[in-house]
Amino acid sequence: IKHLRSAADLDAPTATLILDTAGEMAALAGREVKKLPTLRGRTVVNLFYEDSTRTRISFEAAAKRLSADVINFSAKGSSVSKGESLKDTALTLQAMGADAVVIRHPASGAPHRLAAWVDGSVVNAGDGTHEHPTQALLDAYTMRSRLGRLDGLRVAIVGDVLHSRVARSNVLLLTTLGAQVTLVGPPTLIPVDIAAALSPATKVSYDLDSVLPDMDVVMMLRVQTERMQDSYFPSAREYSRRYGLDLARMRKMPEHAIVMHPGPMNRGMEITPEVADSSRSTIVEQVANGVSARMAVLYLLLGGKA
Ligand code: CP
Repeated sequence: IKHLRSAADLDAPTATLILDTAGEMAALAGREVKKLPTLRGRTVVNLFYEDSTRTRISFEAAAKRLSADVINFSAKGSSVSKGESLKDTALTLQAMGADAVVIRHPASGAPHRLAAWVDGSVVNAGDGTHEHPTQALLDAYTMRSRLGRLDGLRVAIVGDVLHSRVARSNVLLLTTLGAQVTLVGPPTLIPVDIAAALSPATKVSYDLDSVLPDMDVVMMLRVQTERMQDSYFPSAREYSRRYGLDLARMRKMPEHAIVMHPGPMNRGMEITPEVADSSRSTIVEQVANGVSARMAVLYLLLGGKA
């Protein structure tokens, strides 16, 4: 494949190749091989129209570890503030010889538009409420390395599914790889048709307590208060009481089960600090795995091996 715009771009063999390659990247880093010459002479542009901590830094680290030249572009402080369009910005990057453009944008579908305007590879680093495929890859990698498999794994994705690009990409990728996904949250935050539209095998539950004993993975989502309307979201207190993961709820999970969160977290809202910092939480591990997963994506896309 040339671009990674959606988790739907990945069939099972390609997704597995990326996860296996991420494993090789992590193994090399573990043997103190900090830098590979693979992408020497290639240019990766990080084009960020929305704020980011984890994704932006890990794409930069990934590209640098592969010896690529990295250009970081943030919409703030650029000619975007003078009204320059995404297309004109893309053509400027094209003229500068970008081999890959990693884009985060508030508009769903922006990576698809961009792919029509540039010759290089386009990687979606989060577009609106649509998708965040490299987050799904690092999440799948984390599950596989912690639990040994993805096929048959029971995964609950909990909370603000309505606004979550992480949830959408995870449902697509995890079901492609044989996991059984259950979306959990208040009815106002899980559109009725979303599970079936994303994957007919995906289940929906409005009762977190009842699903916890059957899960191998519980992935908590950030409540996106900035995108929330009153009709969707009664109050933070009521939300936490019904859908927040605290120690009492975590104890209902099987002993081997893990807790995930893509970050950034609202500590005290969807997850308590005690759970976030517990030994069953993979939150920090997910960030570390993000570098390996993004190295694998850049290596395979730019090397034409995926
Ligand atoms: N998980 C994630 O996308 O985090 P950032 O918004 O910090 O990149």
